[in-house]
Amino acid sequence: MTVSIIVGGFFGDEGKGKIASFLALRDRPSIAVRCGAVNAGHTVVMGDRVYKLRIVPSAFVSKSTRLLIAPGALARLDVLFREMSATETRGRLFIDERTGIIEERHVEEERRSAHLSKKIGSTLQGVGAAMADRVLRRLRLARDFEELRGMLTDVAAEVNEAADRGEVVHVEGTQGTFLSLYHGTYPYVTSRDTTASAFASEVGLGPRKVDHVIVVFKAYVTRVGAGPLPGELSDDEAERMGLVEYATVTGRRRRVAPFNMELARRAIMLNSATQIAITRIDALFPEARNVREWSKLPLEARRWIERIESELRVPVTIVSTGEDVEVAIDRRRELGVEP
Ligand code: IMP
Ligand code: MG
Repeated sequence: MTVSIIVGGFFGDEGKGKIASFLALRDRPSIAVRCGAVNAGHTVVMGDRVYKLRIVPSAFVSKSTRLLIAPGALARLDVLFREMSATETRGRLFIDERTGIIEERHVEEERRSAHLSKKIGSTLQGVGAAMADRVLRRLRLARDFEELRGMLTDVAAEVNEAADRGEVVHVEGTQGTFLSLYHGTYPYVTSRDTTASAFASEVGLGPRKVDHVIVVFKAYVTRVGAGPLPGELSDDEAERMGLVEYATVTGRRRRVAPFNMELARRAIMLNSATQIAITRIDALFPEARNVREWSKLPLEARRWIERIESELRVPVTIVSTGEDVEVAIDRRRELGVEP
């Protein structure tokens, strides 16, 4: 059994929340770990309920899964407690004692920065400022907060022991490959590396422990904030194509571009992807909406996906065809990929 890391292949908002929650329901991991910080919003739609998660793992939908927050993550206490109530995960959610805690002054510091707000288009959630404090070794960690007593754990030990026992572990990365501090479109990037190796490191997993790297691509590319977006469509074009989206955390309208094979190829390389998940295929092929079997997808949609597979030489194992957590095609068995 296996350790899988789920990462974004473009600029974030590829639908990692959807894929992580769908896979959690299918695979029932014993542990799911959330990485990254509260600037990244993951949306999980379950029937008529919409969860916009900034720190709780999207795998909360699997009730038997133990939910962890990585030592390399950065949490905010108010966001954490609010989301724990909304998702009713108290008692099965634990935070590493070394997880960094963002405080009000980090948010204030970022709000005062014209560089971050005007030039970079930061989400201004205090993440970069807290990360800077961590690097300067003055950030307070989860173990320093009385409120977290009883929720603290050793994530690296838990995850490695579970993997050694042969249990299924899911690691939820955040944002997207090209927002990476190292591999992205610097300076228009976030304050951490967002590739699979970085998320393994955030958790405390060595590279040899990782079995699957699932790179999530949306059927088109979106970006919020400043920075290059090759092939960017005008607002009118995006509207005509039905590709209007708003950001989960900031509510800003997302910039849109067509699917970009060159970026995708580079994302596959940077993450050493073993699987691809495609989301929002129904935006390009409306008849694909809510389809749950490969053979029932419109022929053009199947051709489009097969072209991605042959160009990138990585199997497209999951195809999301609607928002709901249960609505996707799981091709793993047919493709001979063991979950
Ligand atoms: P920051 O990490 O909040 O400072 O934002 C830096 C850049 O990354 C800005 O362009 C943000 O819009 C972008 N960004 C950060 N987190 C996310 C995310 O979860 N989804 C999409 N864009 C993000
Ligand atoms: Mg998002």
